[in-house]
Amino acid sequence: MLVVNQLTKRFGTNTAVDTASFTVEEPTMIGIIGRSGAGKSTFLRMMNRLTDATSGTLTFEGRNVLELTGRARRDWQADCAMIFQQFNLVPRMDVVSNVLHGTLGSRSTFATMFNLFPRDDIYRAIDILERLGVAENAAKRAEALSGGQQQRVAIARALMQDPKIILADEPIASLDPMNAQTVMEALRRIHEEDGRMVIANLHTLDTARRYCDRVIGMRDGRIVFDGTPEQLTTGAAREIYGAGDDFSETSTSTEIRDGSAGVDTPEAVVELERLSV
Ligand SMILES: Nc1ncnc2c1ncn2[C@@H]1O[C@H](COP(=O)(O)OP(=O)(O)O)[C@@H](O)[C@H]1O
Ligand SMILES: [Mg+2]
Repeated sequence: MLVVNQLTKRFGTNTAVDTASFTVEEPTMIGIIGRSGAGKSTFLRMMNRLTDATSGTLTFEGRNVLELTGRARRDWQADCAMIFQQFNLVPRMDVVSNVLHGTLGSRSTFATMFNLFPRDDIYRAIDILERLGVAENAAKRAEALSGGQQQRVAIARALMQDPKIILADEPIASLDPMNAQTVMEALRRIHEEDGRMVIANLHTLDTARRYCDRVIGMRDGRIVFDGTPEQLTTGAAREIYGAGDDFSETSTSTEIRDGSAGVDTPEAVVELERLSV
């Protein structure tokens, strides 16, 4: 279904993703873990074509998506909807309009300018919000919602595109544990009920173990672990995080910055640009 082969991204002399290869046979919920700067975001951004790969291929259902251009590239971007740590909603706009912006790619500039949404789309947006347990907030401004609610609105916006894959870049890194749980449960449910593939960069091991069928560990751009949560022993985790004997699982948060990362803004900007095309 998905074949990633020798995928590489270099920024100057820095190799962000280094000959990454893996194969996914069926829709799976995959967690990507690793320290800050390991290449997790760069991988998702290449997959979604927000950034170009330096070399390698990424084949989905038989097509190398890295070669798609124009309309085909935009269609692919709709097929793999992206969710970000900072939700990327339009804060002052109401929730349902935010969700309806998930259909922007398929609407005319004229309709977009005047916020004209087809009635069927509005009903569908409300249904999706209902499913995610946030429909009662449909008329509120996005900024009035809690972080967990906003992230569920962002998921609803992604679902409006009816994507085959949901790519989530640290979707719960800004949330408290309660909200984090509702968001991960929502992603899990979407995977199970709709059969959509979910690939989520996660900053804690326990989340990856708890919600994912498969865990990929990255270190310095390379895939150093690929297996089931059961196979992800403390020893394997140590290898991924490059920690010594003092390694503890509570220390796997991406909040521990090593100075090489902190590049969360560009993707937010790119996503907003994409939405406002
Ligand atoms: N736009 C960019 N320009 C230059 N270097 C980048 C850029 N984006 C990421 N990097 C570098 O690539 C490496 C991987 O970053 P990233 O994919 O953001 O890691 P992660 O998401 O695992 O924290 C880091 O060394 C980072 O500094
Ligand atoms: Mg990242």
